[in-house]
Amino acid sequence: MKLLVTGGAGFIGSNFVHYIAKKYPDYQITNLDLLTYAGNLENLKALEGNPNYKFVKGDIADKDLVNDLAKDVDVIVHFAAESHVDRSILDSSAFIHTNVVGTHNLLEAAKNNGNKRFHHVSTDEVFGSLGPNDPAFNENTPYDPRSPYSASKASSDHLVRAYYHTYGLPVTISNCSNNYGPYHFPEKLIPLFVTNLIEDKKVPLYGDGMNIRDWLYVEDHCQAIDLIIHGGRIGETYCVGGASEKTNKEITYKILELMGKDEGSIEFVKDRPGHDKRYAIDFSKIKNELGWEPSVSFEEGLQKTIEWFKNNEAWWKNIKNGDYKNYYAKQYGEK
Ligand code: NAD
Ligand code: TYD
Repeated sequence: MKLLVTGGAGFIGSNFVHYIAKKYPDYQITNLDLLTYAGNLENLKALEGNPNYKFVKGDIADKDLVNDLAKDVDVIVHFAAESHVDRSILDSSAFIHTNVVGTHNLLEAAKNNGNKRFHHVSTDEVFGSLGPNDPAFNENTPYDPRSPYSASKASSDHLVRAYYHTYGLPVTISNCSNNYGPYHFPEKLIPLFVTNLIEDKKVPLYGDGMNIRDWLYVEDHCQAIDLIIHGGRIGETYCVGGASEKTNKEITYKILELMGKDEGSIEFVKDRPGHDKRYAIDFSKIKNELGWEPSVSFEEGLQKTIEWFKNNEAWWKNIKNGDYKNYYAKQYGEK
């Protein structure tokens, strides 16, 4: 099989490229990535020299490039996105460019080159925010995005569905909860907190810390996508979750405990505007149809993740000392 993976130099995309290269060594993988602040070729060093792997630097919104690449593949697996809610609050233009215009461009390329199989990687955030007693999101939950990030992902999901209904493009969509694990960019909750604690810095907990997310170890997400591209029903959406709802406070205390720190390291900071209260996922459809369920518990995954960040200091220190520093200063007023 020949795969075109977009955004394969980011967090989940690079984990997916490694996963596929290991499980299906004869598959050909082309990785198209613009290498924005979030893309990092260090994530893919182990694949350099692999004859079945090719990296192309470019924008998914570049019509000619994407049309050329789509000619020679069987499946497009689309991860590329602007992915950080806080950045979308500061400035959402890149989110519209990549998540909406870029996805549309990829769909056009898939359609114009013989209706290529297209898998769209999306998020549970498109469904909005749950109250404490609401049932978990499922495939029939109405869309209700509330941040510029989730609104741009919702737009992309709608376009993908429209290309299925209008042109018969063979698509699938996965809407997944919060991932964590190796190569997670250290602006997101878990890697930011773990790396700050290694550096003896404080961890900035938003608001009262009582917002709830569902967490999934990234390799489990890769396995879900693998099952969907090989056996998922065309035109269908699959909700993917970790059966692991936690408040941010619970996560913070667990990280502090595992890293031998105490609550003196917590700094309560101003809340995120429009901060979604709770996400939760009912993943019974993918469990019943494809036999998928999470295999790594939160406790085990968090321990593995902390170990990974301890063992890969050079990877995240390069990031934290680079361009990211300006963004962090804007967010938290630090120099
Ligand atoms: P990420 O920000 O770590 O990586 C995104 C990648 O896309 C980067 O390598 C970046 O260089 C690339 N990219 C950005 N704009 C591009 C463009 N115009 N052209 C080509 N490449 C471009 O993101 P992630 O956390 O790995 O998320 C991957 C996908 O999974 C996204 O679509 C996201 O919405 C979705 N998702 C993420 C999570 C999560 O918890 N991180 C959960 C559910 C779904
Ligand atoms: P994040 O990792 O940004 O993912 P998302 O917003 O896509 O769910 O944030 C996870 C949760 O952690 C979210 O409720 C916001 C909160 N949070 C903090 O409390 N402090 C932080 O520094 C960050 C980045 C997030």
